[in-house]
Amino acid sequence: MCRVARDLFSRVGMQGAEWMTRNLEPMMSFDRATAGVFSGVRAVECPPVQLPPDLPLNTRLKMDGLELLGKLSGDSVAAVFFDPQFRGVYDKLKYGNEKTSRNHVRVELPQMSEAAITEFTKEIARVLIPSGHLFLWVDKFHLCSDFRNWSEGTRLSVVDMVTWDKEIVGLGYRTRHRSEFCVVLQKEPRRAKGVWTARNIPDVWAERMRRKNHPHNKPVELQGELIEAVTAENDLVVDPAAGSFSVLEACLQRGRNFLGCDVAELNVLAERDGVMV
Ligand SMILES: C[S@@+](CC[C@H](N)C(=O)[O-])C[C@H]1O[C@@H](n2cnc3c(N)ncnc32)[C@H](O)[C@@H]1O
Repeated sequence: MCRVARDLFSRVGMQGAEWMTRNLEPMMSFDRATAGVFSGVRAVECPPVQLPPDLPLNTRLKMDGLELLGKLSGDSVAAVFFDPQFRGVYDKLKYGNEKTSRNHVRVELPQMSEAAITEFTKEIARVLIPSGHLFLWVDKFHLCSDFRNWSEGTRLSVVDMVTWDKEIVGLGYRTRHRSEFCVVLQKEPRRAKGVWTARNIPDVWAERMRRKNHPHNKPVELQGELIEAVTAENDLVVDPAAGSFSVLEACLQRGRNFLGCDVAELNVLAERDGVMV
C-alpha cells in the first residue's frame, strides 16, 4: 500500500481505505510508470495560420480535399482527421446488396483510389506540425490489409489505435460488423510527452452510431476527446473529406477551429434517396 493510501486509511477508516486502494493505487502506479513518457502539459505550439479568404474556418466547404490541403503551409496543423471513401471493401467482398437504401448512397459517394488515398496521406504528412497527429479511420478489411502502404515514405508512423464500438450490428459473411478503427499516426519526432495530454481515453470506445446526415458518420464524442488530447484551444483541426462534418461538430463543442471540406453535395444525395432522417 502506498503512503498516500495509508494516510487516507487513517482518515476514512477501513472500508473507505480499501475502496481507495483498489481504485486509486493502480492509477498511481500507472502514473509512476509512465512519468518519463507522459506529461499533461503541452510542449508543442502551432504557428498562427494565415488562410486565404476562400478558406473560411468553421464552415462546410464544398471542394476537393487535395486542393484544400495544397493551400496549407507545411508544418502548420496539429491534428488532421482522414476518413477515406474507399471502394476496396465492396470490390473485394461483393456483398451484392448495394442497391438497398443506405448502401446505395454509400456507393454513389465519390470513391477514392488507392493512389488518391496515398496522395492525401502525403499531403497530410506535409501540413502536420512536427509531432502532429493524423487520425485515420479504417474498417477491419483495410486494417488487416494494406492501410500501411498509404503512409509509406512519409514521416508518419502508427503510434496507437482506438476501436469504435458502434453499438449497431451490420453485415458480414462470417462475423458481423460492429466496429471501426481510428488508427493514430504521428509525424516525427514521435513522442507522447508534452504532446498527448489526456489520460482517460480507453482504446475501445462505445458510442452509438448516428444514422443521420451521412452513411459514414463518425463518433463526435470520441473525436472530441482525441482533439482535446492533442490540440490547444483555438488550434486548427483539418478534415479534407468531411462527409457529415462530424469533426466540425466536435471542434465547435471543444473550442477548436475547423477547416474542412467534402467534394460531394451529400445532403442532396441523401434527400433523393430518402435515407437520412
Ligand atoms: C467516409 S466519408 C467521411 C465521413 C465523415 N468522417 C463523417 O464523420 O461523416 C468520405 C467522404 O469523402 C468524400 N470524398 C471523396 N473524394 C473526395 C475528395 N477528393 N475530396 C473531398 N472529399 C472527398 C465523399 O464524398 C465522402 O463524403
